[in-house]
Amino acid sequence: LPKPLLAGKKIAITAGPTREALDPVRYISNHSSGKMGFALAAEAARMGAEVTLISGPVNLATPAGCQRVDVTSAEQMLDAALAVAAEQDVFIGCAAVADYRAANIASQKMKKQGEQLSIELVKNPDIIATVAAQTDSTFVVGFAAETQQIEQYARGKLASKGLDMIAANDVSNGNIGFNADDNALTVYWLDGQQAIEQANKQQVAAQLLQLIQQQIQP
Ligand code: PMT
Repeated sequence: LPKPLLAGKKIAITAGPTREALDPVRYISNHSSGKMGFALAAEAARMGAEVTLISGPVNLATPAGCQRVDVTSAEQMLDAALAVAAEQDVFIGCAAVADYRAANIASQKMKKQGEQLSIELVKNPDIIATVAAQTDSTFVVGFAAETQQIEQYARGKLASKGLDMIAANDVSNGNIGFNADDNALTVYWLDGQQAIEQANKQQVAAQLLQLIQQQIQP
């Protein structure tokens, strides 16, 4: 029997949204369901990899054979990522990390005030860029959620975050991307690109993992 494609490989995957507290009962977040990241984890395990799934708050069961680490905020996700990144063959950042968090988290529930309310936000750490900067041999794959100029913005993130590969999805199309069962990707690396046509996230995940496998073992 042939060896499964990713046998012996260690792969960490971030999935889902992060949740940034404003006060004890409120938060900033986004519509990521975790489906894409969980599909990648399930497929990677099926292909023989040893999988660590770092998940924000989602309502999904842990895929068979995956080690799951649950986190809430971007800062917690960064800590969980850095704890395992160096020992991975592949790190995939599929999470929709909140770019900003509240400058101050109120310790008591915020009271209703006047007609307008301003909340000061500060930038969150960039998890995938930090992982790329702090690892040597780990093949680092990002996602890019775009609504326009997809290749230009995706290739910009590939370069600025120091990634080896980036998978762009057009999140202006409601049939794919956030919370949908399907996705479609255009995958970019330094000297190549490949489209993955619309299909359910399990099938898209399998194709993305095959592309990654080709790049790590040419
Ligand atoms: O979860 P689903 O409902 O299945 O939806 C899937 C998805 C649309 C969320 C997924 O396919 C996707 O596109 N994930 C990335 C979403 C995102 O935050 O994209 P971005 O273009 O803003 O970020 C680019 C990359 O940087 C991503 O790899 C992201 O994980 C990473 N990032 C961003 C900000 C930050 N502070 N730290 C990061 O690591």
